[in-house]
Amino acid sequence: MVEIVAFEELNVPQRRQAADILHHALAHMQSAYSPEEAIEEVAKFDGEDRAAFAALDGDKVLGWIGVIFSYDHAWELHPLVVDPANQNSGVGSALIAHLEDYARKDEVLTLYLGTDDDYGGTNLSGIDLFPDPLAKLAAIEPVKGHPFTFYKKQGFAITGVIPHGNGFGQPDIMMAKRL
Ligand SMILES: CC(C)(COP(=O)(O)OP(=O)(O)OC[C@H]1O[C@@H](n2cnc3c(N)ncnc32)[C@H](O)[C@@H]1OP(=O)(O)O)[C@@H](O)C(=O)NCCC(=O)NCCS
Repeated sequence: MVEIVAFEELNVPQRRQAADILHHALAHMQSAYSPEEAIEEVAKFDGEDRAAFAALDGDKVLGWIGVIFSYDHAWELHPLVVDPANQNSGVGSALIAHLEDYARKDEVLTLYLGTDDDYGGTNLSGIDLFPDPLAKLAAIEPVKGHPFTFYKKQGFAITGVIPHGNGFGQPDIMMAKRL
C-alpha cells in the first residue's frame, strides 16, 4: 500500500533514499545528478519557495515529486523521479495526482515543467530547431522512452521548447496542465 507524505515527515535515512532515487532514476541523462548533487537538491526542498512529497511503501521511499512556487497561479513541477525498480506501477501517476490536489487548494491554475532531451530520447535530439522551432516541435516523436509521453497521459500539453538548452541539439521540452 503506497502512502504519500510531505518531505517534512521523512527521516534522515528516507531523505537519503530520496537522493539515491534522484541520482539513479536520471542516470541515463547527461544532466544526471551525482550522488552529492542529489543530496544538495533534496536539501533545497527545505526552502520556503518549494514543496515535495514522497511515495512510501512502509519505510521505503518509492519515488518523489517536487514543486517550485514560481508564479502566484502557475507552479513548476520539478523533479519527478521513481525508483527504477518500482517504475510502471502507478507511483509517478499517484504523485502527480497528489501534487495537483495540493496545488488546487492554493488556487494554482497551471502546473508546468521542462522535460529535457539530452540523451536522444526524441526525434528533436541532435538537430537545430531553428528557424521554426514550433513546426519541429509539432512533429515530436519518442525515440527512447522519453517521459513527455508519460506526461501527455497525465493530461499535460506541450507548450514550447528551449532549443539547445542543454547543449547543441539537446532541447528542454516545456509542458503544462490546466488544473
Ligand atoms: C517518468 C516516471 C516518473 C513515470 O513514473 P512511473 O511510476 O514509472 O509511471 P506510472 O507507472 O504511473 O505510469 C503511467 C503510464 O505512463 C507510462 N510511462 C511511464 N514512464 C514512461 C516513460 N519514461 N516513457 C513513456 N511512458 C511511460 C506507463 O507505461 C503508464 O502507461 P499506461 O497507463 O498506458 O500503462 C518514471 O518512469 C521515472 O522516474 N523515470 C525516470 C526519471 C524521469 O524521466 N523523470 C521525469 C523527468 S522530467
